[in-house]
Amino acid sequence: MAAGALQMAEQDRLRSIAYKSTTDMVTDLDKRVEALLVDLFAREFPDDGLLAEEGAVSEGTSGRVWQIDPLDGTTNYVHHHPFFAVSLGRVSAGGIDLAAVYAPELDELYLAGASAGAWLERPRRRTRLALPPREPVDLERALLATGFPYVRDELVVRNCELLKSFLLRRCHGVRRGGSAAIDLCHVASGRLDGYWEFSLNPWDLAAGSLVAREAGVVVSDFSGGDGYLDGSQILAAVPGLHATMLAIIREELLDPVR
Ligand code: IPD
Ligand code: CA
Ligand code: CA
Repeated sequence: MAAGALQMAEQDRLRSIAYKSTTDMVTDLDKRVEALLVDLFAREFPDDGLLAEEGAVSEGTSGRVWQIDPLDGTTNYVHHHPFFAVSLGRVSAGGIDLAAVYAPELDELYLAGASAGAWLERPRRRTRLALPPREPVDLERALLATGFPYVRDELVVRNCELLKSFLLRRCHGVRRGGSAAIDLCHVASGRLDGYWEFSLNPWDLAAGSLVAREAGVVVSDFSGGDGYLDGSQILAAVPGLHATMLAIIREELLDPVR
């Protein structure tokens, strides 16, 4: 909440925008929010390690590591598009076990614990909802989302082919929200039905993938397995739709760019 409040308070006062590559921006706020979180975590979870996008790393002694994205959706943030978030996911020996994604402009705080459920809190509205398990949705009735890597190479072309495949199969639409953490939470809360992306990092998806799973969403890599935490491939979709989307992705990847 403190990190989200800082994002909101400082959006009109950005001091610096640097470029990690021609399209990948980093602002002073990414770094200031990370510094705030690193301080808080040192106080609140002194035994846990952390790995944060802008460079903070600590090993900790507990065997648990927090994957931290201080500002997921930096491009949106710079352009005053409302989809940006703080994303915090804890990884233990058994996998991701605690998650928080806070999108302050949307007034959406998603929380999840492994085998404990997922919740959507709306702090300004003072509401809290336990997310019910998602029900199956046919592809023809589904709203999907994806994202594109900053590096505009062959992977962008391949993802455009995939996007085309889903559109031609007449789903309701394909969105590009610009925050992987929010995309995953929106599959959990029913605003979206399926989401896929290539080339992410663990801090983009650790938290959102647990929120999704705890809401009954099926989350996998593109082979249908559990190896999505490294970020190279993730597919999250409601039951039934996941199998349909996986088959299309695999067909497209085996026969790319026709
Ligand atoms: C990005 C967002 C975006 C995804 C990019 C990510 P950032 O994170 O999650 O939706 O498409 O690949 O890198 O850079 O805004 O933290
Ligand atoms: Ca990110
Ligand atoms: Ca980020």
